[in-house]
Amino acid sequence: MPTADRTQLNMVQRPRRLRMNPILRSMVEETRVSPKDFIYPMFVEEGRKGRKDRLEIPSMPGVFRQSIDAALKEMEQCISLGVRSVILFGIPLHKDPLGSQAHAENAIVQRAVRAAKKAFGRDLFVVTDVCLCEYTDHGHCAPVEGEEILNDEGVSIHCKTALSHAVAGADMVAPSDMMDGRVGAIRDALDEAGYTNLPIMAYAAKYASGFYGPFREAADSTPQFGDRRSYQMDPANSDEALREVELDVEEGADIVMVKPALPYLDIIRRVRETFALPVAAYNVSGEYAMVKAAARLGWIDHDRVMMETLTGIKRAGASIILTYFAKDAAALLNKQGA
Ligand code: PBG
Repeated sequence: MPTADRTQLNMVQRPRRLRMNPILRSMVEETRVSPKDFIYPMFVEEGRKGRKDRLEIPSMPGVFRQSIDAALKEMEQCISLGVRSVILFGIPLHKDPLGSQAHAENAIVQRAVRAAKKAFGRDLFVVTDVCLCEYTDHGHCAPVEGEEILNDEGVSIHCKTALSHAVAGADMVAPSDMMDGRVGAIRDALDEAGYTNLPIMAYAAKYASGFYGPFREAADSTPQFGDRRSYQMDPANSDEALREVELDVEEGADIVMVKPALPYLDIIRRVRETFALPVAAYNVSGEYAMVKAAARLGWIDHDRVMMETLTGIKRAGASIILTYFAKDAAALLNKQGA
């Protein structure tokens, strides 16, 4: 082997000095991901009991539609891994035009919240997704008239839904419908009922995205006609995201979310720099599915890409990450003693 020439360049700054030793390298790390950052999304399904009590979602390996009992077991696992928060999505047995199972007292999410709070109390922070598309037979996030998606009628149902989650014991509600004015209306409804301290995490800048595909398969919530472009945002827009976030902040949002995460890291950063509120990012189903699929094919290193993804989302400015990777990432971080 030929030896390289030993030239001594006259350089005062050598950035590589800080990268030579792993201990020093970890001391100068600017971004740290922790299990405390995660909210783990879970799907609770009505009528699973008696059938197989959990069903893996084919495009989301490791994620299940499951009964409340099975969900409780997974929540316990989350807590032991240091993942202290979950967000619940419901899959009802019956769907109807107005999505009545979104807010019925004994509907699936309401029951799941009560069970989770009874089992884990303050050891688990239970967030609920407030939306209609999993509960309507047409799959839109508000009632429809012909082809029109009815904003204000949607908002009044979302208020009922948020309130029913609060009554069941939810620790935070997260409206994801993207109807105009829903955050303010939900804040009023909660306050009037005495839930003045219940925070709202608004899906503030939610884009009409192809990355929701696996979720819609999981939740059976694909629109039966048209698409969501009249209410979710156009991927081309960035200033509009700031307007959406501003409105939600004025209306009383406590945390603002950007969704999806990866194609919108610039939005996360802009929101973070413009508003003095915690920013959440949703690392959505399609982003998860891509990593799982490529890893299965042996095309990428699963754990590395997972951690790089989560680090990137945090570095962009998110303090909270909703991610299906929560358990995998927490297990890895715990193993590394991070
Ligand atoms: C409901 C909702 C969706 C997601 C979260 N809440 C789907 C949609 O808007 O079609 C997607 C989450 C994911 O893809 O992981 N409105």
